[in-house]
Amino acid sequence: MNEVVRLTPEHDALPVLAHWHFVQWGYLRPGTNCTLTLAELRRECTSQVVPSTYAAMIDGQPVGSVQLLAYDMDLRPEWSPWLASVFVVPQYRRRGIASQLVRHAEKVAFSTGIDTLYLYTPDQQTLYERLGWRRLENVGWCGERVTVMVKQSRQGEQP
Ligand SMILES: CC(C)(COP(=O)(O)OP(=O)(O)OC[C@H]1O[C@@H](n2cnc3c(N)ncnc32)[C@H](O)[C@@H]1OP(=O)(O)O)[C@@H](O)C(=O)NCCC(=O)NCCS
Repeated sequence: MNEVVRLTPEHDALPVLAHWHFVQWGYLRPGTNCTLTLAELRRECTSQVVPSTYAAMIDGQPVGSVQLLAYDMDLRPEWSPWLASVFVVPQYRRRGIASQLVRHAEKVAFSTGIDTLYLYTPDQQTLYERLGWRRLENVGWCGERVTVMVKQSRQGEQP
């Protein structure tokens, strides 16, 4: 069974997510490790909308993640909040799970009065455009070129 669940700081899935996030994005934060990544992740599992953390679960096991964070890029402190940490384990990719996670986080944010969400991506612009996100600008971030994208609550998805 495939569902998206909101994670609490004590949820059993958090160490798994911390491992994914450290392996995928640890290079962006020199000096971090899996333990520090897990501690930060626990702090990002609040009962507020921001920050909050979600996992896609299949048969009780986490297979993907998404977060709503106040800041994911300090180049643009005036832009907030951000959709972040979109990740799906390789064996479950290309079956719509990331799209489901993104839509879920958008729905949580937009249904609680947030009207604009931001994200950045080095290479998944097409995926987000299909979900109704719009390119804002290309910037250098942590040694790579990334595209900052935006979605507003009143925007629809691409046909
Ligand atoms: C990027 C990532 C999150 C995508 O996850 P995913 O679950 O495969 O995403 P989706 O299935 O929603 O969409 C991916 C593709 O599968 C296609 N797809 C979706 N459902 C499908 C289905 N049932 N059958 C075939 N293809 C399908 C989508 O159309 C999309 O096509 P595209 O590559 O041409 O854009 C995943 O590859 C990942 O975790 N990568 C590493 C981390 C990363 O880069 N995260 C993004 C940071 S911005």
